[in-house]
Amino acid sequence: MAEELVKIEGDKSAVYEGLFPQIQALVGDETDTIANLANVSAVLKEAFGFFWVGFYLVKQDQLVLGPFQGPIACTRIQRGNGVSGQCWEKAEAVIVDDVDKFPGHIACSALSKSEIVVPLVRNGEVIGVLDVDSDEIATFDSIDAKYLTQLCSWLVTVI
Ligand code: SME
Repeated sequence: MAEELVKIEGDKSAVYEGLFPQIQALVGDETDTIANLANVSAVLKEAFGFFWVGFYLVKQDQLVLGPFQGPIACTRIQRGNGVSGQCWEKAEAVIVDDVDKFPGHIACSALSKSEIVVPLVRNGEVIGVLDVDSDEIATFDSIDAKYLTQLCSWLVTVI
């Protein structure tokens, strides 16, 4: 297992592309869900300096807070509620440029300004979501959606 992340120079796409093999090496043959999601949260937080990075996992028809990096967060989210609940319902990435303008946004922190949520889909079923928050407006775009979706597609095969 690598002991530290190799810092990648370049634009956002280059950083995601350089991170992915590092994440794969970090996970290695580990199959424990909490261990792997915890490390992936840490990698994304460290590489991009996002305000909050973490996972919610579907348990008994709710999203329940899983491994994360950042300030304390809401523990349970209902299907269809907030950005995460809508991502779950739609089974697709949701990007919010300004959370204050998103009807139903669940404010875990007043400092969060923009957000992307990407579903973890296994066998056609959403088993959780990756939620990333920024303390700046409009941090996320289709590049983040593309790479985070790829990451989640791979993650569901190793957790
Ligand atoms: N803002 C999210 C809730 C989770 S936190 O951002 C950590 C939402 O509206 O679903």
